[in-house]
Amino acid sequence: MQESMGVAIVGCGYVADYYATTLPNHPQLKAVGAYDRDPARASDFSLHHGIPVFASMADLLADESVRIVVNLTNPRSHAHVTRAALEAGRHVYSEKPLALSLPEARELVELAESRGLTLGTGPCTLLGETAQTVWRALRDGAVGRPRLVYAELDDGAIHQMPYWTWTSASGAPWPYLDEFRVGPALEHAAYYLNWLTAFFGPVTEVTSFSALVVPGKVPGMTGCDFAPDFTTAALRFTSGVIARLTCSTLAPEDRALRIIGDDGVLHVAECWDYGAGVTLRTLVPAERRESSDHYLEPPVSFPLVRPADYHHSYKESPEQEPHDMDFARGVAEVADAVIERRGARVSARQALHVLEIILAMTECGTTTIESTFEPVTPMPWAGLPA
Ligand SMILES: NC(=O)c1ccc[n+]([C@@H]2O[C@H](COP(=O)([O-])OP(=O)(O)OC[C@H]3O[C@@H](n4cnc5c(N)ncnc54)[C@H](O)[C@@H]3O)[C@@H](O)[C@H]2O)c1
Repeated sequence: MQESMGVAIVGCGYVADYYATTLPNHPQLKAVGAYDRDPARASDFSLHHGIPVFASMADLLADESVRIVVNLTNPRSHAHVTRAALEAGRHVYSEKPLALSLPEARELVELAESRGLTLGTGPCTLLGETAQTVWRALRDGAVGRPRLVYAELDDGAIHQMPYWTWTSASGAPWPYLDEFRVGPALEHAAYYLNWLTAFFGPVTEVTSFSALVVPGKVPGMTGCDFAPDFTTAALRFTSGVIARLTCSTLAPEDRALRIIGDDGVLHVAECWDYGAGVTLRTLVPAERRESSDHYLEPPVSFPLVRPADYHHSYKESPEQEPHDMDFARGVAEVADAVIERRGARVSARQALHVLEIILAMTECGTTTIESTFEPVTPMPWAGLPA
């Protein structure tokens, strides 16, 4: 029988619902309990999902059945909660960002390593079918030598939407002040940086422009402590690939990726859907190119690579907002890594590297990136390198 690991959730807010409904996708994970410093929030979450509540963080950490702490608190609580869990000898899966500063994040990574504990971080979309398919296509040489990447993480003009009415299935309000204060780079850039650093290796240099374009997002608030709502950066990878990544909460929703190589272009329309299609446009053969303005063939779907137990939709209950992301897959990866005594794919070293890139992105100018990380391996079901 498969070994199972006790999981406790800390932070029962908006995103916790997505974890609670996707934990059952992974039989190696057993939800032992949850804790939130807001008892009413913890109680609503518990009633909705049937997951028991711990009275305190101390009680949670005293429970021997808790092997993995899943840190779903607000970004400014991440470091504190992760440190407490690691000091209590627990493996941790933390939502992004690992911490809000590089020294804090580095300290957590070193603490985990010194104690022989696994520290994994979100987002885990790299473990999804779409990302693994793109990676497989690159390994198979579908576009030849990759040269240039355009990645978009535009979330729409959130301040023009009724964001104050958004609530999760168990009733948690969407934390808009947090989102505006942390900003789209720290909130979202990792969705593509995790992919790109896995595909192309570490980044050595970031040239960035960032600005708070609309300060008055919330009526009655000056917005002076809001983060930049527009960030664009060019990244240079050790492998020679160049990427341009843009994040905003202003431009209409667009989370597309284009990878341009010598022999073609790979395209993904949406990185927040684990089963989003991947298309490939190859070069028109040289003899036909001379008689046409077009140098690329029409897009053709690249078949998705999938695990044997693949199911595209992660909508678990009728009343839940449809979502196409298996949030708990990163927690499962931590559990599998612990069981199999190997490093986790959503590793803390990669997260530290990604955080250094993101912090550089929120400045204006050019920054040399110092950190690095061990190469990541594809999921076993995505096939070996060609
Ligand atoms: N909202 C989303 O759609 C979404 C999607 C993906 C990832 N995330 C990430 O998930 C994390 C949580 O976001 P959220 O939207 O659920 O926020 P939220 O504000 O809705 O929930 C956070 C919860 O953590 C609790 N909390 C904070 N500090 C705590 C502490 N020290 N101990 C115990 N509980 C504590 C709060 O009381 C709150 O209930 C963030 O890192 C965010 O970037 C959010």
